[in-house]
Amino acid sequence: MRITVLTGSPHRKGTSALLAERFIAGAEDAGHEVFRFDAAFEEVHPCLSCGRCRIAGERCVHRDAMDRLMPNLLAADLVVFATPLYYFGMPAPLKAVVDRFYSVHYVLTKNRKRAVLLVTAADGHEEAVAPLRSHYQRILSYLSWEDAGVVAALGCSSRGSLERTRYPEQAYQLGRCC
Ligand SMILES: Cc1cc2nc3c(=O)[nH]c(=O)nc-3n(C[C@H](O)[C@H](O)[C@H](O)COP(=O)(O)O)c2cc1C
Repeated sequence: MRITVLTGSPHRKGTSALLAERFIAGAEDAGHEVFRFDAAFEEVHPCLSCGRCRIAGERCVHRDAMDRLMPNLLAADLVVFATPLYYFGMPAPLKAVVDRFYSVHYVLTKNRKRAVLLVTAADGHEEAVAPLRSHYQRILSYLSWEDAGVVAALGCSSRGSLERTRYPEQAYQLGRCC
C-alpha cells in the first residue's frame, strides 16, 4: 500500500513528529511504501481561489513544493494527517496543503482513499480536539475518503510527556495494521 504522511508542526522533534515517526515505523514494518511531506518546512503557497485549475486543460498557477507532493498524494491509498492542535484546528502550513487539494479535487474523490488523523494537544480534555476531529471527518466525507483511525494524544505538550503515554504505541500499531 502507498501511504502519504502530511505533517503540520514546525518542530522536527516535537510531539506530533513522534506520532508520525511511530506510525511510519509500523507502516514500513508491515511492508508499506511511505512518502512523508513536512508542510512547515516546504514552500506551499496559499490557494488564490483564482479558478484557473477548474478551466479545462489548465492546472494550479503555483509552482512550488506541491508539484513534488501531488504525484504521491494522487497515488496514495492512505493519507495521514499528523498535526499539533492549533486553536482547535490544524496549523496554517498543513491547512495550506489541504486547501491546495482544490486543484485536484475531482481526481482525489475518484479512488476512494483512506485517511488517518494523528493529533497532539496540550489540553487533556477530549472536547479540545472535537473541532479538529469534526473538520477531519467533514473533509473525508467531502472527498469520499474513509477514516482508517485517529490517535488523539491529549495532555501532551512535550515529547517527554508523550513518550510516557501509550499514544506512540497506538500510532505504531495503527501504521502496522492500517
Ligand atoms: C499557535 C499554537 C496554538 C495552540 N493551540 C492549542 C489548542 O487550541 N489546544 C491545545 O490543547 N493545545 C494547543 N497548542 C499546544 C500544542 O498543540 C501542543 O503543544 C503540541 O504538543 C505541539 O505539537 P508539536 O510538538 O508537534 O509542535 C497550541 C500551540 C501553539 C504554538
